[in-house]
Amino acid sequence: MSRTPSDAPLSRKSWDTEEGRAPERSAAAPSDAAFLDATLRPSSWDDYIGQDGIKKNLQILIEAARERGNPPEHLLFYGPPGLGKTTLAHLIARELGGVLRSTSGPAIERVGDLAALLTNLAPNEILFIDEIHRLPRAIEEVLYPAMESGVLNIIIGKGPSARTLELPLPPFTLIAATTRVASLSAPLRSRFSGGTFRLEFYSEDDIARIVSRSALILGIEAEDAGVREIARRSRSTPRTANYLLKRARDFVQLKRRPLSREAVIEALGLLEVDELGLTPLDRKILGALIERFGGGPAGVGALAAALAEEPATLSEVHEPYLLQLGLIERTPRGRVATPTAYQHLGKTAPQDLQDRLM
Ligand SMILES: Nc1ncnc2c1ncn2[C@@H]1O[C@H](COP(=O)(O)OP(=O)(O)O)[C@@H](O)[C@H]1O
Ligand SMILES: [Mg+2]
Repeated sequence: MSRTPSDAPLSRKSWDTEEGRAPERSAAAPSDAAFLDATLRPSSWDDYIGQDGIKKNLQILIEAARERGNPPEHLLFYGPPGLGKTTLAHLIARELGGVLRSTSGPAIERVGDLAALLTNLAPNEILFIDEIHRLPRAIEEVLYPAMESGVLNIIIGKGPSARTLELPLPPFTLIAATTRVASLSAPLRSRFSGGTFRLEFYSEDDIARIVSRSALILGIEAEDAGVREIARRSRSTPRTANYLLKRARDFVQLKRRPLSREAVIEALGLLEVDELGLTPLDRKILGALIERFGGGPAGVGALAAALAEEPATLSEVHEPYLLQLGLIERTPRGRVATPTAYQHLGKTAPQDLQDRLM
């Protein structure tokens, strides 16, 4: 695997590289997700398909900062896993001719870890904190002043003899990513002066372009209709699309068949990914909502408990896509299954369902 300047490896524990870290749980939970991400990650703005509004804004921000000779202001990307947040951070670093120093919220355990990261940044380097919502509170409190006024306040000693040491920092850019922007504290959120950007699900056309590009890179000969079918079942998510492409490739390779629409349908059928792109767990969520909670409303906690899953898995990985497809709705009292969900599972919706969706 060739390394680009923006993925320079680091040896420190709190400086985990993207490749070395466990990948975010994506719907398809591919174990080779990290490898795929690194191989297929777009290395130019032209290869980064979709998210046009975000791309334009970022290009202006970067260009203007470069003209002024300053590092760009701090940026926050949020949205469901696999939509291209980390990729954007890499592209920005590359655009600035620098390196992305990658770490993640849970990897920064002590104030000293953060201090080491910030004081060791070279002028053209960018600090990337993934899963920033998992940063310990005590670290957050040291991070605000660092982001805002470029000073690091470190407390030395304990009790009455404790003193605060103010360490000035060279100007830097922090890029952070999260799947749960709501769990960031308001003061932290407000420090992203360059902007907070929400990544959107992709159109089927854009995913089809991404799949075609990936097929080319991986040397897979795929028929257009096969590419389309993968795009249709990819949860509007590039990472899932790439994962499904690989699985379909394995299937046709062993069967000595072309990667056609029929072959994709069979291959993804074996993975139990249905025509809407739903996985078994998606269908279980809908099934539980309908059967155990009479269609809802049900709170995420109760739903997760019924399925023996983490509430975060439901709300960060599965719910966004089910909402996007209009299979569930969020009401003040909890989640409600829509008539489309009943239809998808081959069930009849109760008469009073519309009232509950109000
Ligand atoms: N806009 C895009 N165009 C092409 N491929 C993309 C795009 N966004 C994401 N990908 C693909 O999906 C993979 C996962 O993206 P990533 O940036 O790691 O997502 P996130 O950090 O949001 O979970 C990337 O490695 C890349 O192969
Ligand atoms: Mg990421």
